[in-house]
Amino acid sequence: MAVKVREALARAGGHLKEKGIESPFLDAEVLLTHVLGLNRAGLYREAERTLTAAQEKVFGDLISRRSRREPVAYLTGSKEFMGLVFHVNRSVLIPRPETELLVETALARQGDGSVVWDGVEKAPVLLAGEDRPLLIVDAGTGSGAIAVSLAVFLPSARIHATDCSAPALDVARRNAVACGVERRVMLYEGDLLEPLMSCPSLPGEVDLIAANLPYIPSGDLPGLPPEVYLFEPLVALDGGMDGLALMRRLVPVAAVLLKPGGWLLMEIGADQGEAAAALMPEPVWEVQVHKDLAGRDRLIVGRLKE
Ligand SMILES: C[S@@+](CC[C@H](N)C(=O)[O-])C[C@H]1O[C@@H](n2cnc3c(N)ncnc32)[C@H](O)[C@@H]1O
Repeated sequence: MAVKVREALARAGGHLKEKGIESPFLDAEVLLTHVLGLNRAGLYREAERTLTAAQEKVFGDLISRRSRREPVAYLTGSKEFMGLVFHVNRSVLIPRPETELLVETALARQGDGSVVWDGVEKAPVLLAGEDRPLLIVDAGTGSGAIAVSLAVFLPSARIHATDCSAPALDVARRNAVACGVERRVMLYEGDLLEPLMSCPSLPGEVDLIAANLPYIPSGDLPGLPPEVYLFEPLVALDGGMDGLALMRRLVPVAAVLLKPGGWLLMEIGADQGEAAAALMPEPVWEVQVHKDLAGRDRLIVGRLKE
């Protein structure tokens, strides 16, 4: 018998709840909006609409994948970050809201200090205030969330972004094109900053390096939620024995690329502030640990001394 939107939602939400999914009814709504091409308001407006057999089948398949813990963002193929929509697939980490702190801090660290609000919530856009385009690097770009957002919000910036995963770079490229910034986001495949060391215009010139590299200690990986551990790429999560293995290798190379007074911003785990700060010793670096809204270490901001 044909199923109405309202019934499909109730049934799917109930099923996800039984399977222990954390936000069962919200997930069901998001997946049904995806299938029907509606927004959430539309879903409620059309609560009495009947699903076609094809829609019912597609929705049923998505719900059963979600009940096996596949993240909603992989099921819909998209995730919002900094008010922009990013395409995602299983080659890339799903951009996290926590990482917006890094982007917002990067924006606030750039330029002449004047802030222009462009109407996007929480997104201060700072003017470059320099006579050359800002030079920014994103190490481990994944979906391009950081690189593409910075390019969108800093219209004069050129962003060089690396990743060791070719399929991840394909996703980043697609996102750069979708946001219209592909001419200012240059993508390189390779280890950390290695592909940039031979670019003639970069060493000693970069204004800011952003890095959300894997920082979960290898031993903690099996304890992660199944959504993360079973579905997101291991290369995007595994930070080695203490979680800091990649940052430890990044910091000395970052010092070669940055201009004197340039910034290195790295996302870190909740208890990694002190250990990460120790990777950037005086007198080469000035360092601050920034906390997130929940009061946990989230970001380390280093400034290469002039
Ligand atoms: C935690 S994810 C972050 C992705 C994206 N920057 C974000 O914030 O959503 C880390 C990324 O670093 C990449 N990565 C891991 N090891 C790397 C390495 N040695 N060199 C370059 N990229 C690396 C992974 O492929 C992954 O895309």
